[in-house]
Amino acid sequence: MQNAHNLGRMTHPSKRAVTAVIVVAAGSGERLGYGMPKAQVPLGGETILMHALRGVVASDVARQVCVAVPQGDTALRALIAEFTVDLVDGGPEISVVDGGSTRADSVRAALAALEDGTEFVLVHDAARALAPERVFERVAEALAAGAKAVIPTMPVVDTIKTVAGTDGADALIAPELVTGTAPREELRAVQTPQGFELATLLRAHEAAGLFDGKQAAAVTDDAMLVELLGVPVHAVRGASQSLKITTPLDLIIAEGLLEGPLGIRWVEG
Ligand code: CTP
Ligand code: MG
Repeated sequence: MQNAHNLGRMTHPSKRAVTAVIVVAAGSGERLGYGMPKAQVPLGGETILMHALRGVVASDVARQVCVAVPQGDTALRALIAEFTVDLVDGGPEISVVDGGSTRADSVRAALAALEDGTEFVLVHDAARALAPERVFERVAEALAAGAKAVIPTMPVVDTIKTVAGTDGADALIAPELVTGTAPREELRAVQTPQGFELATLLRAHEAAGLFDGKQAAAVTDDAMLVELLGVPVHAVRGASQSLKITTPLDLIIAEGLLEGPLGIRWVEG
C-alpha cells in the first residue's frame, strides 16, 4: 500500500488490477418529481448524469465504465455518446445497458456487460452526481489493499430512533411509538461508490436472485447483499458533497454546491 501511494496517479493501484465502474442511472426519479428520469434532470446547466460521469472519469480508477439507463431511453444514450467522443485518449471504455425495474436489476444488467478479466467493480448512483474523485480513489485503494467490499460512509448527525406502529390504543396521541434509540457513535450513513471484488459481488447478486418480492424490495444497496454472504465489508470516509439527489431540496443543495464560493467539485477531506 505504501509503495502504491508513492507511485502516484499515473500508475494508480486499482488501474493495475482491472477495475470497472457501474453507474446506475435507470431510475425514474419519482421523488424528485421532474417528470423525467432523474439522470436527465438539469443541474448547474448540465444533466445529473454528466456530473456523475465526469467525477468517475476524473478519479481515473476505471478501465471500463458501464452506465445503466432506463429501458427505451434515447436522450441519455445520446448524451453518453457525446461524452464518449469528447474523452481524451487513455480514458475508460464507456458502455451502456438497459437498466431493470429495481436498482438491483440495473446493477445486474451492468454486471453482465463487464469485460472479461475485470477484477474489481465500483457501483455508483448517478444520483450522487457530485461525489468527489477522492472518494472513488479511497474505495479503490482499499480494494487494492485486499478488502473484498468497501463502502464510503459518513457519521450520522441526527439522533436515530426506532419506532413501531401503535396497536391502535394510542393512535389519538401519535401514530408511532418509539421503541429505542440507536447508539449514534456506531451508526454510519452509507453512500456510493461501493467497491467490490467482482467475484464476490457476482456471488452476492446470484444469491439475491432467489429472494421473494418483499426481500428484494428491502435491498437498498449492494453491500447489504455481500453482508448476507458473511463477507466482511469495510468502511472508508465518504464526503458530504456525495449527497444523493432524491428530493427537490437535495437538488437545491446540489445547485448551491456548484454555485458556491468554492466552485465545482470542491473537495472536502
Ligand atoms: N436506479 C436504477 N434502476 C432502477 C432504480 C434506480 O438504476 N430501477 C438508480 C437511480 O437512477 C439512482 C440510484 O439507482 O441513480 C439510486 O436510486 P434513487 O435515488 O431511488 O433514484 P430513483 O429510483 O430514480 O428515484 P425514485 O426512487 O424517487 O423514483
Ligand atoms: Mg428509487
